[in-house]
Amino acid sequence: MKVTISVIKADIGGYVGHSGMHPALIAEGEKRLAEAKDKGIIVDYHVTSVGDDLQLIMTHTRGTDNSEVHGLAWEVFKAGADIAKEIGLYGAGQDILSEAFSGNVKGMGPGVAEMEIEERPSEPVIIFMADKTSPGAWNLPLFKIFADPFNTAGLVIDPKLHPGFIFKVLELKKGRVVDLKCPDEMYDLLSLIGAVENFVVKEVKRYDGVIAAVASVQRLSLIAGRYVGKDDPVMIVRAQSGFPAVGEVLEPFSLAHMVAGWMRGSHWGPLMPVSVREANCTRFDGPPRVIALGFQLKNGKLVGPRDLFDDPAFDLTRRRAQEIADYIRRMGPFEPQRLGMEEMEYTTLPAVLKKLEERFKEEE
Ligand code: 13P
Ligand code: 13P
Ligand code: MG
Ligand code: MG
Repeated sequence: MKVTISVIKADIGGYVGHSGMHPALIAEGEKRLAEAKDKGIIVDYHVTSVGDDLQLIMTHTRGTDNSEVHGLAWEVFKAGADIAKEIGLYGAGQDILSEAFSGNVKGMGPGVAEMEIEERPSEPVIIFMADKTSPGAWNLPLFKIFADPFNTAGLVIDPKLHPGFIFKVLELKKGRVVDLKCPDEMYDLLSLIGAVENFVVKEVKRYDGVIAAVASVQRLSLIAGRYVGKDDPVMIVRAQSGFPAVGEVLEPFSLAHMVAGWMRGSHWGPLMPVSVREANCTRFDGPPRVIALGFQLKNGKLVGPRDLFDDPAFDLTRRRAQEIADYIRRMGPFEPQRLGMEEMEYTTLPAVLKKLEERFKEEE
């Protein structure tokens, strides 16, 4: 059976500030997706949040980029934004960058990760959702999951994984993509995706062309042409039987690697894996957080979720993330706590520079 998994997300108002999600927005999402399920637009759904981002996880048989499914998500976000305005949530409608819906939410503010799959008899999938960061945050974990034999034992000991995976990399500012095959082109791949604010992994396929992972790659600042908030990306990863095991998919998140985002979208910070209950961004509006929900798909039904980072096995990582956060915070407005100039162009810094423009003189 062919099934499409669509994860569509948006920040439509924070509670309190940019720290978390108000229950009224979750309730609105659940109500509207339940109606859509009754009408047969979608097969199943799960609504959740990470920080101030509302997450709509949906399954259906309409394929990717379907206007009914995108339209449904758009309606949820619009209705949610109205509620957010009414109760005074912060940044109500933040990620709704356009008023007129034209069939697809891409380029309109929300983040989207979708894949159409031929469902296996048992289909484990993991949905990762992050707050206070940008899509480049997935580069390192996706590389480790699908190309690093020190992370994924299956690349070495499972003949089904041995031939490797193909990474589709998007050059953000030029809007062009390139496919790179691992292990053959591993060094080329790393030379690109190590530059996380310029190149992002959009999709990973197995050597035989079967889809393994997709990430949301929308950049709010590039769409809006100004800083409106961070992208707070999502990704979908398939696991087991010809793909990395669940534990191999989760393993890279034990590092708490540094990602761009955090306070005002302008700082480097450790990505801390947390349970849904702990997905509230507090200290310096962070540190950046990621949740992972595991589902078994059956005939498109979402059996789950399992809250995969709700586990003492990640306690040490969380502690390390806090130590890194504590250390780098001491640097305040100095790089590399603050992002480099190139990325700061997409924040509110240009307004400050503009103010000083006339006072700059040639050096004597
Ligand atoms: P099972 O033998 O339980 O399927 O586990 C295999 C595996 O992938 C464990 O990582
Ligand atoms: P969000 O992108 O999560 O809305 O955060 C914006 C921000 O400025 C946090 O300090
Ligand atoms: Mg926000
Ligand atoms: Mg957010």
